[in-house]
Amino acid sequence: MTSSSFKIGILVSGRGTNLQAIINAIENGELNARVAVVLSNKKEAPALERAQKKDIETVYLDPKQFAGKKEFDRALTRELEDRRVDLVCLAGYMRILGQEFIRKFEGKIINIHPSLLPAFPGLDVQQKAIDHGVKFSGCTVHFVDEEVDSGPIILQAVVPVHESDNAETLAQRILIQEHLIYPRAIQMIVENRPHIENRKVSFKESVSQ
Ligand code: GRF
Repeated sequence: MTSSSFKIGILVSGRGTNLQAIINAIENGELNARVAVVLSNKKEAPALERAQKKDIETVYLDPKQFAGKKEFDRALTRELEDRRVDLVCLAGYMRILGQEFIRKFEGKIINIHPSLLPAFPGLDVQQKAIDHGVKFSGCTVHFVDEEVDSGPIILQAVVPVHESDNAETLAQRILIQEHLIYPRAIQMIVENRPHIENRKVSFKESVSQ
């Protein structure tokens, strides 16, 4: 596969700054991939506009139009399979993916989370980091497994927590690092087949093809 034929599908629900960082990294030549589609469960997600500005195909799927979570996830699956994506990137996607979806794309779904996992999975994690009194937080790119924010870790960046921080100032400082490590993690996957053993991710070339 030539690297530029590596296709990413990106799932979003919100503002899309990580999506933008991925788009920018592709434009700068730091990431040899192509965004094949941006899928959203929120019609008004600013992320959709960011993609449309760059002529990237977008699809909005309205959860209310589906009988349930499974049916919604199956529609998502079809959109991604139709475009033969090599990797599914969650970028501020605010729905929990079902087991069927995750198994279908096993080893091919990654997420970015604004804490140093396994500390502070879930939501409102910058506030949780401040409340806990940690001196450092950060962000994590990880493979998605069937638990929330629990899959094998690909890359992390450490960010200091200042005494004067509130959730917003800390989130902003972490976001700067998110925008650096998310495209970098994707490029690592583009260049080398990841190998996962006992949760540990390595990027050595696979010998048994
Ligand atoms: C980021 O903080 C990301 O770590 C988390 O959701 C937020 C999405 O932000 N999963 P954006 O939509 O990429 O700006």
